[in-house]
Amino acid sequence: MTTALITGASSGLGAEYARQLAARGADLVLVARDRDALEDLATTLRARYRVEVAVLAADLLKPRHRARVERRIADPDQPIEVLVNNAGFGLPLAFERNDIDDEVRHLDLHVEVPMRLTHAALPGMLARGHGRIVNVASVAGFMPRSTYGACKGWLISFSRWANGRYGPKGVTVTAVCPGFTHTNFHERAGLPPGQEGVADWMWLDASDVVRESLHDVARGRAVSIPSGKYKLLVAFAR
Ligand SMILES: NC(=O)c1ccc[n+]([C@@H]2O[C@H](COP(=O)([O-])OP(=O)(O)OC[C@H]3O[C@@H](n4cnc5c(N)ncnc54)[C@H](OP(=O)(O)O)[C@@H]3O)[C@@H](O)[C@H]2O)c1
Repeated sequence: MTTALITGASSGLGAEYARQLAARGADLVLVARDRDALEDLATTLRARYRVEVAVLAADLLKPRHRARVERRIADPDQPIEVLVNNAGFGLPLAFERNDIDDEVRHLDLHVEVPMRLTHAALPGMLARGHGRIVNVASVAGFMPRSTYGACKGWLISFSRWANGRYGPKGVTVTAVCPGFTHTNFHERAGLPPGQEGVADWMWLDASDVVRESLHDVARGRAVSIPSGKYKLLVAFAR
């Protein structure tokens, strides 16, 4: 009878978390801006898996929208057992040419939003003695890559600390660190797949990333690096 709330569930990894958690019998709360995409996914998942799926359309960069999501997460009458902080977007790597307000929005969505949603989730999860928080970071968090790598590095460091502190109390926090994964991410950032300078074999499928990460989440790991090739790459980078 678990309920999972997933941000950025309208596409890519977030939609895949929704599919795989629904397949395991979890009820869902889907969060993103694109209400139609969330409704379509919700209809499919309700029919296929017989789970309850609520749609919470919100722009997490708008304080009033974000506050609605925080209230839903903290609602003691409808406990959220799994929080997936996944919403994100990319910017061109040329930091010096990027609009500084875009950079601040990028920082907010990748750092402030997961911090606030985690803060909203923890009191209830700790009181109940169980919960799972999944922070979708990136292998870029281990390697300098403009402000994106810096944001994801924050998420990895925070997840490591939080898992050590709250894990023994039944609430695990896992930073999931995918490599290049086929989603809408790169196209939305103006970088069509293939223009990142990475070979075809470096691309991962969202379904594999989510499956491997959920395995690590179930084991209470602080950091999950899906796929052997990226585990190796991160080991080299270190
Ligand atoms: N793809 C990769 O290679 C890769 C690798 C490592 C890590 N990641 C991380 O994986 C996460 C998911 O990205 P993805 O690859 O699945 O990309 P995606 O397909 O572009 O999905 C991004 C999701 O974030 C949501 N989102 C963006 N801005 C939002 C806002 N202001 N408020 C609410 N939701 C918002 C989008 O929904 P709406 O547009 O409907 O709001 C969408 O559902 C990100 O944190 C990304 O950094 C991706």
